Amino acid sequence: MSSVDTAADTLADLQERALAAIAAATTLDDLDEARVTFTGRKSDLATVQQSMGRISAEERPVLGKALNAFKAVVEGALADQREVLEAAALDRRLAGERLDLTIPPLAVPPGRPHLISQVQDLMVDTFVAMGWRVADGPEVESAAYAFDAMNIPPDHPARQDMDTIYLQDGRVDAYGLPEVILRPHTSPVQARVMRTQQPPIAIVIPGRTYRNDSVDATHSPVFTQMEGLMVGEGITMAHLRGSLQAFARAMFGPDRDIRLRPSMFPFTEPSAEVDVSWGTNPDGTTRWLEILGSGMVDPLVLSWCGIDPERYSGFAFGIGVERVAMLRHGVSDIRDFYEGDARFSAQF
Ligand code: DAH
Repeated sequence: MSSVDTAADTLADLQERALAAIAAATTLDDLDEARVTFTGRKSDLATVQQSMGRISAEERPVLGKALNAFKAVVEGALADQREVLEAAALDRRLAGERLDLTIPPLAVPPGRPHLISQVQDLMVDTFVAMGWRVADGPEVESAAYAFDAMNIPPDHPARQDMDTIYLQDGRVDAYGLPEVILRPHTSPVQARVMRTQQPPIAIVIPGRTYRNDSVDATHSPVFTQMEGLMVGEGITMAHLRGSLQAFARAMFGPDRDIRLRPSMFPFTEPSAEVDVSWGTNPDGTTRWLEILGSGMVDPLVLSWCGIDPERYSGFAFGIGVERVAMLRHGVSDIRDFYEGDARFSAQF
């Protein structure tokens, strides 16, 4: 038998075994193993290929043809089986990833705005319904806006009363006092609005305010205020009273009354503390609860903001959102708003 015949026999035998192994492969790894075994660099095929060098020149094309035929058959079988196995692998993966859309979902209770946000929105909406607009300003504020613009000069006691939180960034004002603060009230936004906008102005400004207070049932170093400002021609205390009466009734009930008591704020003249009626005392007299501070905008504040006090007048007020929320919803401890206990929040 010539060496070509031997090689051809070997190839025929090899092909039979290769096709059997390929057909038997049940995974892509099995298939790869078969490929390496039968066509790899150390396979029987490689041995046959090496024998090409030892046979005669006439016999070489015969063996070459046989080798090509072998490769075509085996490679074709490998490719076909690869396709089959890949399709099966994909089917398995899809089956594993199938979602059963008929399983009922876990019940996730819906979230809702925090009570402070709800009350703040309601307070703002009350004024928006009367045609007012909403403004805001920075929580990190300059002493110039928070105090000077509000007619609270550096030597004014109110500057200390506010227990302001000063930010230690080193900037100081003309008096050497720290310049950058966390705003202790929303009033500076009055000045920011008036300096950029001519009357008529009717805005509310809700927002966070900060004071160096220790926490107890009625104090928190971070709290929320809503400022109000109306400036125009012929604005009087009657507009103040009417607006705040409408507000008190919207917040606390249609049968409420308000009462104004003389007070003192540096940025308003005259100033008034506003009380809202709250049932009756044991002796039959009306019970009053203080809810906010207010007054006619001081002409000095108008001038500082570039508004002519000869032509325009205005009123302003500032009200604590937490206080309104506590009164409206019978919350007795301000800390409940901030502690994040879902048993509290879920009640509102
Ligand atoms: N800014 C005052 C405070 O935080 C509240 C206030 C009082 C604001 C009277 C006003 C006002 O606009 O007219 O205590």
